Amino acid sequence: MKPLPYLSKYLVFNVLHLCSCFILSYCGANTLHLMDGTSTAEIINGDVFFEIIEPSELEYTYRIRPAKGFGAPFNSSFHIKNVPLIPVLPKNGCKPPDNLDDVEGNVAFIERGDCSFKRKALIAEQAGARAAIISDVTDSKDEYFIEMIDDHTIDEVNIPAGYLMGKNGLMILNTLRRLRRTYALINLPVNLTYTPVHKMNQPPWMGW
Ligand SMILES: *[C@@H]1O[C@H](CO)[C@@H](O)[C@H](O)[C@H]1NC(C)=O
Ligand SMILES: *[C@@H]1O[C@H](CO)[C@@H](O)[C@H](O)[C@H]1NC(C)=O
Repeated sequence: MKPLPYLSKYLVFNVLHLCSCFILSYCGANTLHLMDGTSTAEIINGDVFFEIIEPSELEYTYRIRPAKGFGAPFNSSFHIKNVPLIPVLPKNGCKPPDNLDDVEGNVAFIERGDCSFKRKALIAEQAGARAAIISDVTDSKDEYFIEMIDDHTIDEVNIPAGYLMGKNGLMILNTLRRLRRTYALINLPVNLTYTPVHKMNQPPWMGW
């Protein structure tokens, strides 16, 4: 555990006036290991950001919370640019995807529910996904503080997995459906270390 470096990172990011609830959820000692070997430059209070660069209707920066206790870290070796984000079929990602060819080499987008977060990430990894983004697909903001924790099954997940917050999942899926697209193009992560909060390009339907 390294509370002091963590604290200093927190103080730096505090100037961004991010929701104080994140302070609470990231002060627990068992979350500090998240920071080990992880590039702090890309992380704000433990969360990671990606941007959609296409379609233009979704061209915003999105916040995800890395899984705890399973999955590879979103560390400085993990950088993808211009890679398809593919909603898996079936949407809950609890079995190998029907659209396996699309998922392979790309980022899997998976709906929450029906099986554990870890199982979804594991199945995405087995399908060849480079990362898994798991999301609620509802209009509700209640799930904002969901933490994806290990379900204590034995299998190891070796790709990064993150929980997409708020109603982003709904907006992304609805927009792709409306445009009859099977994917969005993303960059993950985006480096927001020195980006002022008003330039973070958050989706208009979200408050961070
Ligand atoms: C990032 O994490 C991966 C998977 O755990 C690991 O193989 C790699 O060495 C890490 N890279 C850095 C720079 O820590
Ligand atoms: C993020 O940006 C900062 C400031 O430009 C830079 O110091 C840091 O190395 C960047 N991180 C990565 C992973 O590119």
